[in-house]
Amino acid sequence: MKGVILAGGTGSRLYPLTKVTNKHLLPVYKAPMIYYPLWTLVHAGIQQILIVTGGRNAGDFLRLLSNGKEFGLKHLNYTYQEGEGGIADALRLAEDFAEGEKICVLLGDNILEGSIKPAADNFERQPQGAHILLKEVANPERFGVPVFEGGRIVRIEEKPAHPASRFAVTGVYFYDSTVFQKANQLKPSHRGELEITDVNNAYLQEGTLTHSILDGWWTDAGTFESLRSATNLVADTSAKI
Ligand code: G1P
Repeated sequence: MKGVILAGGTGSRLYPLTKVTNKHLLPVYKAPMIYYPLWTLVHAGIQQILIVTGGRNAGDFLRLLSNGKEFGLKHLNYTYQEGEGGIADALRLAEDFAEGEKICVLLGDNILEGSIKPAADNFERQPQGAHILLKEVANPERFGVPVFEGGRIVRIEEKPAHPASRFAVTGVYFYDSTVFQKANQLKPSHRGELEITDVNNAYLQEGTLTHSILDGWWTDAGTFESLRSATNLVADTSAKI
């Protein structure tokens, strides 16, 4: 399985921190944000990794991460997203890199305490489709939220005003090679972006989306509150080891 980290976007919710740099280069305790999803993939045994970025500071990723040696990688792959087409638009740039293999996609601002290796190993055995990781949160309205009927997910709603469950769809996604076909068929949402939630709903419609609940803490770091909480969680966890 190959890994893809999506690290583009304007980071507008963190302005002015993102006025002169990319959100994923901001510090989270002792490391730049992008280090955490890289560590997550490497710890899951994923060695071939593509970083999708964009904006005016794309060159800084190469300066920071170079060939990935510091992470135990032989090399790192990079590509550039033009414009602000959203997460699913950024994902489309990974098609040639994936070469028909399954992929694990991580949003570059998602930080996890635990390992995704068990989920990755399970997905290797899943014949087709996609797998998402859910986490119970206090503020589901900020995220993609699964709607359950009889224990099964029937729909995922993106940032619903009235969430149907207490779960967030985390920014860790496992996809088979049909993901690109699905992403290419999307229509922009009301905010003018191709939504990852619509990709997941396409898998739901064909009945091939599975899910599991993530162990350990999980946070994104894309708002002032979540960046602060990410920093505290990482610092507290590092203090314990
Ligand atoms: C994105 C996704 C959302 C998901 C979240 C996880 O939201 O659209 O479905 O729950 O990442 O971090 P964004 O952070 O772009 O608002």
